Amino acid sequence: MAALAKRTIFTAVVLVVLMAAPALGVKKYLFKTCGEASFCRRNRAYADLAGSKGAAWASPYAIDPSTVTFDGGVLQGSIQKTLTDSTGASSNVEFPFQLVFLESGSARFVVDEKQRAESPIPGFPDNLTQRRYNEASKWAVTGDLTPDISAVESTTDEERMTAVYRVRYGPDRQFEAIVQANPLQIKFYRDGEPHVILNDRGLFNMDHYRPKPSDMDNQDLSNELDVKDMWEESFGGKEDKKPKGPESIALDVTFPGYEHVFGIPEHADQFSLRETRGGEGNHNEPYRLFNVDIFEYEVNSPMAMYGAIPFMQAHKKGSSVAIFWANAAETWIDITKTKPNPESFGIRKSTETHWISESGIIDVYVFLGPDPTSVYQQYGLLTGFTSLPPIYSLGYHQCRWNYNSEEDVLEVDANFDKYDIPYDAIWLDIEYTDNKKYFTWLKSMFPNPEKMMQVLDKRKRKLVTIIDPHLKKESGYKVYEGLSKNELAVKTDSGDEYNGWCWPGESAWIDTFNPKAIEYWKEQFKPGKYCGHENNLLIWNDMNEPSVFNGPEVSAPRDTIHYGNWEHRDVHNIYGLTFVNATVQAMQAREPRQRPFVLTRAFYAGSQRLGAVWTGDNAATWDYLRIATPMLLSNSIAGFGFVGADVGGFFGNPTSELLTRWYQAGAFYPFFRGHAHIESKRREPWIPGEPYTSIIRAAIRLRYQLLPSIYTAFHRASFDGVPIVRPMFLLAPDNEEAFGIDDQFFFGETGLLVKPIVQEGATSTDIYLPDDEIYYDYWDHTIYQGIGYKHIEAPLEKIPVLARGGHIIVRRDRQRRSATLMSHDPLTLVVNLDSTGNAAGVLYLDDGETPAYSRGAYLHRFFMFNAEDNILRSRSMQASSGANKSFEKSIDDIRIERIIVVGLDSDRLKTNHAVEAFQDRKSWSADIDVTKAADGKATVVTVRDPKLLVAADWSIQF
Ligand code: NOJ
Repeated sequence: MAALAKRTIFTAVVLVVLMAAPALGVKKYLFKTCGEASFCRRNRAYADLAGSKGAAWASPYAIDPSTVTFDGGVLQGSIQKTLTDSTGASSNVEFPFQLVFLESGSARFVVDEKQRAESPIPGFPDNLTQRRYNEASKWAVTGDLTPDISAVESTTDEERMTAVYRVRYGPDRQFEAIVQANPLQIKFYRDGEPHVILNDRGLFNMDHYRPKPSDMDNQDLSNELDVKDMWEESFGGKEDKKPKGPESIALDVTFPGYEHVFGIPEHADQFSLRETRGGEGNHNEPYRLFNVDIFEYEVNSPMAMYGAIPFMQAHKKGSSVAIFWANAAETWIDITKTKPNPESFGIRKSTETHWISESGIIDVYVFLGPDPTSVYQQYGLLTGFTSLPPIYSLGYHQCRWNYNSEEDVLEVDANFDKYDIPYDAIWLDIEYTDNKKYFTWLKSMFPNPEKMMQVLDKRKRKLVTIIDPHLKKESGYKVYEGLSKNELAVKTDSGDEYNGWCWPGESAWIDTFNPKAIEYWKEQFKPGKYCGHENNLLIWNDMNEPSVFNGPEVSAPRDTIHYGNWEHRDVHNIYGLTFVNATVQAMQAREPRQRPFVLTRAFYAGSQRLGAVWTGDNAATWDYLRIATPMLLSNSIAGFGFVGADVGGFFGNPTSELLTRWYQAGAFYPFFRGHAHIESKRREPWIPGEPYTSIIRAAIRLRYQLLPSIYTAFHRASFDGVPIVRPMFLLAPDNEEAFGIDDQFFFGETGLLVKPIVQEGATSTDIYLPDDEIYYDYWDHTIYQGIGYKHIEAPLEKIPVLARGGHIIVRRDRQRRSATLMSHDPLTLVVNLDSTGNAAGVLYLDDGETPAYSRGAYLHRFFMFNAEDNILRSRSMQASSGANKSFEKSIDDIRIERIIVVGLDSDRLKTNHAVEAFQDRKSWSADIDVTKAADGKATVVTVRDPKLLVAADWSIQF
């Protein structure tokens, strides 16, 4: 009895404890594994079958040589699948393909399904488009898809006999594609070496259209490995009717000689992608791309998250290449690495990948580099570059779920001033609305939002409001009523408005694939209608995966229908992009024209054109602080570099130490925002008290000091795609030891090497120098040199940052309340000399807010310190035009107020107390302070107020 009583009490206590403090952790059962997604399971089994047969594997797919033509930069023809039934009789299914060589230097391989593309299929569901979904590129790609008519076919007669075709293309025709009909294979060469091979392992596979057999038992399904769930399937008790039957596509891609592949965000995993077929340190599941609201996501996992960019980069010593898989359906990617094969690809391992999507066409772009920056440019030329954000959006953002009232907002705002901490935007989460009805206000708490915005505006601060895509189904709620009446919502398979559950309860989802829905959305944001005519409004789009609380995998059912009669399954990963696109258009339509700022949670390839993104609901633990760095790196190399993670961790309560270390890391996140869950305690920078508040203040101030350089890096990203947060291989492309290092990064154009502290109690760290360049401790100028780890002290007040020699950092050292208030402040140049005594840097400046820069109203300057003559020069990088002249005039008050040269040999100074400045054919001397090299620290020469102008050509003789 006693024992039983004891056990009962124990069980009750455990239950109470569990209920009171639910363990943090993803609810895995809500999301499919590959085995639970029938198309993934089948294609994986197909890969296993092919693998088990080895060289004897004979794929049923081959190009029919009689169909192949090459003309105007396009090689095209037909792929045939041979089906053999149980009697041995064979038949063919046809898949037209095109291999397009683009003017931008990339190649595109597209495969469709003939019967669905060309002739009406009797019995095909008449509420659906018969074609396979082929519009992923339409949404993702804004660049030029013109074929390159100068691509040349160089097939020899002998090759033609064996149905092998060769095309030279790209810059100086250095690239070559070699297409083989049977076995079907496309090899991409650069300078005579293969870099990307499509269908190397023969896993190309496309489910052709078949009506559901009325009697499954009596069908000849001998060509199928696994017929379970092909015509309908269910998950978590939810049925998917699959009216078009199985329609998966798959292809394998090998990167010969490449041991490391990166990208395919979003996953909370290391930067160099792991193998996914088991083994120590590897995953057992493929990486999944399927935008989901993954509550309490786990780290080190290949599980799907909020966003999907099917872009993968392979990097090895001397070369970088990449592919983009333009498909918007659920996608799984298996990764395996082969043993080194000296006979074929040298001593390195190769990476084999297997791409599997639920529906759509095969549409894959191949980028042949040769280096990382070329790859980013080639990808950006297609999917667009980060649009230049307003400069204030690069400052610090203060968010929480929720600031509860106008008083609350204004008190937080005032506290930033009281504690002398700059910030630029305060955020309102969903509770500001009347019952989660977007575009309305909870009047009892926000009786006069416009006035509140005006108070913020006086201090040059912005208000961000959250607007989600679900609209509460409630009569009298005008936004919903208009949506419903005009049939602009996502529909069910029977054509009715689809309703599901989200924050407001029963809701409808705006279908932003529909141009009319975009117009409708624009209406809602009209000045006067929303937030009056205030001009300091920024927008946050959340839950746009879309998140549907009662839907399969917390999202919309796959058989719901979008504009164009496409099923949700076809467009799922793009929905979030279309929603942000509508919001951006709406904000652009507000007068006076400002550059909009919109934050999104869901994303796809191309979302970088529209705004910023964050990594969703992390938690206040050291693990999440640690995983943020590789996540930022993955997003950055996949084109979406305006990315951040919730500083402090969304769920839970950070210790003061964790919060402080997170601010120090966050100061280097491209998007820098503190955010917290509704149940977490308040944690604004002044809450932890001393010494933490002062250290957090210092981190945020550092961010503001660096804004000119950060903005310059964004400007660069906006035209060539080189990200803000940069992996080691960008600066040290040949150091193989550094390819897998993902706990440190280079920051923009500054040459700063940042290593966030992510261990509790740590007071020092080891930073890896990936190259032989000289590095200076950013704070005390201690010199470090030589490839390998260097131990540096990092007490709580110190962010481990080294400045790589050779770069010039531009800062604004005056402390202000917000970024906008700094726009006419003088500048400081920090010149970190390299081991040969040289350094260079760039400054981009414009009005920071309006689109006037696109008409030439900007300043672009180049600074260079030349070791030979000991002169620092400033020169313009732009052609003179009326617009830039008048912009220059508007900033003719901006001075260079200080120049700090680190690493200059003091013996080379003409005098120890002054240097000579030259500008506008005049010269004068400027005072200097010299701190001579000692104790392993570099010499530092500081020029005090040289009275030079930022908009002029000048030089300084040291
Ligand atoms: C989910 C978002 O990820 C989170 O940041 C936000 O606070 C909540 N939705 C409430 O809007």
